[in-house]
Amino acid sequence: MRPQHEEARAASAEEDPWKECMDTAVELALRAGEVIRNAFMKEKRVSTKSSAVDLVTETDHFVEELIISALREKFPSHRFIGEESTSSGSQCRLTNSPTWIIDPIDGTCNFVHRFPLVAVSIGFAFKQELEFGVIYHCTEERLYTGRKGHGSFCNGQRLQVSKETDIAKALVLTEIGTKRDPATLKLFLGNMERLLKCHAHGVRIIGSSTLSLCYLASGAAEAYYQFGLHCWDLAAATVIIREAGGVVIDTSGGALDIMSCRVVAAGTEEMALLIARELQTINYGRDDED
Ligand code: IPD
Repeated sequence: MRPQHEEARAASAEEDPWKECMDTAVELALRAGEVIRNAFMKEKRVSTKSSAVDLVTETDHFVEELIISALREKFPSHRFIGEESTSSGSQCRLTNSPTWIIDPIDGTCNFVHRFPLVAVSIGFAFKQELEFGVIYHCTEERLYTGRKGHGSFCNGQRLQVSKETDIAKALVLTEIGTKRDPATLKLFLGNMERLLKCHAHGVRIIGSSTLSLCYLASGAAEAYYQFGLHCWDLAAATVIIREAGGVVIDTSGGALDIMSCRVVAAGTEEMALLIARELQTINYGRDDED
C-alpha cells in the first residue's frame, strides 16, 4: 500500500496535473529575477546574435541554464525550448510532449542599457496547447501568472483586459523586432502610420514584448501587434491574456501559431481583427524552420 502522503500527492496530480509544474515555474522565475536584479547595474558582456541590435549577455545564458537545469532535474521527461539554447543551435519544435518555453531575459536591450523593463518568461504547453504562463517583471517585482481555466493574476490580483472595440479609442503597443533593412523599416513604419491614421490614441514601444503583453492583459492598453517576436515571447503571455478575457491571434486574422513570429493581441476580438486588417506583413520566417 502507498503511504498516505503519496496517495494525497497522486490525487492532487490527477485533479490538477500541472500544479507542481506551475509552482516550480513561479519559484524559478523569482529566483531568476533576483539574479537579473543583482546584475542590473553592473557592467555586462554584450554580444550580438542575428543582427547588430539582437543582443545577449552572460546573464541571459546564466539564467537560461539555471532555469532549464532545475526543470530538467525535476521533470526529466519534459522538453525545453529556450531563447539562448535555440540561438546556439538547439531544435525549436513544439511536439505533443510537455514542453517548457523560456525567455530568460525578455528586454535584453533594456537590460544592457539599465532601462528597467525586463522580465523572465516561462510558458508551458502539453499536446501543443498552452497550459500556463509565468512572467516576472524583475525590477518592479511584479509576478504575472495565468493558468488555462483558472484566470490570470498580477501579484495575486485578478487581471482583466480592456473591452474597448474602437481603434480611435485605443492605446496600441508594438515592438520593433531585430531587422533594420530599409524594406522592413518601411513596412514597420507604414503599419504604425496606418494605425495613427485610424486615430489610435497612441502607439508605444517599451522594449519588452512580454511586458507589453502583460500590460495588455492588465487593461492598460487595448492592443498589441508585432512581426518578429518568437515563441518564447508569446507562450506565457498568451495564456495570461486569454485568461484575462483577451484574444491572441495571427496577423492574418486567423488562429495563432506561436511558431510563426507574428501576432495580434487585444482585449476584444473586434479590436484584434480591426488591427489585423490594417497591417502589412513583415516576413520573419518561422521559429521551427531548419
Ligand atoms: C525581444 C524583446 C524586443 C522584441 C523582440 C523580442 P529579447 O526579446 O522583447 O522588444 O522586439 O521581438 O524577441 O531578445 O530581449 O529576449
